[in-house]
Amino acid sequence: MSEKNKQIQPSAIPELASVLVTRQQIAERVAQLAQELAEFYQGREVTIVQVLTGALIFVADLVRQMPLPLRIESVSVSSYRGTNTRPCQARFRLPPPEDLSGRDVLIVDDIYDSGQTMAVLIDAINQTRPASLRQCVLLQKDRPDLPARPGVDFVGFDIPDEFVVGYGLDYDGLYRNLPDIGVLNKELHEVQP
Ligand code: IMP
Ligand code: MG
Repeated sequence: MSEKNKQIQPSAIPELASVLVTRQQIAERVAQLAQELAEFYQGREVTIVQVLTGALIFVADLVRQMPLPLRIESVSVSSYRGTNTRPCQARFRLPPPEDLSGRDVLIVDDIYDSGQTMAVLIDAINQTRPASLRQCVLLQKDRPDLPARPGVDFVGFDIPDEFVVGYGLDYDGLYRNLPDIGVLNKELHEVQP
């Protein structure tokens, strides 16, 4: 194999304890999700509200497989302080656009964890009176400690309660560019619980 074609092996990256979802699994599931969404929104125009920065890569792959009239808007919600791996109070860095009234809106995020980010977004977008509001995430974290979590409409993968990075997901701004999704090696990073 030439140097150019050699693939990155995330297992060789010391910051990753293990790979949880491979790039092949992601590609297959994203294609399925795009098909599910295209069928769901058939005959309608959809407005995607992507949650920056984590959803960036997922949205880029997803929308290119959705043959629909489609707009992309962006929001940014900060739910972490520094290097914590448990979310803190969610707040907008970039609020949703005010002109979503009458639109079929689909919020797309990288991961659903406590559900706080999604709750804040749903509340803010509902105030703009969309025709419909659905949510799609690539990953949904298993949180048996939060049985009342409302959940989302479209989910790529259910994963265990681990802090993961790659394919858009970061730790302290890093590792978004890893093509696979892996569990962060907490020992190496000495992250706070
Ligand atoms: P929630 O508000 O607790 O549902 O957290 C969702 C947000 O937290 C996502 O938009 C991510 O930005 C971030 N997040 C939650 N879990 C992880 C993770 O395991 N890795 C990276 N980011 C995460
Ligand atoms: Mg996020």
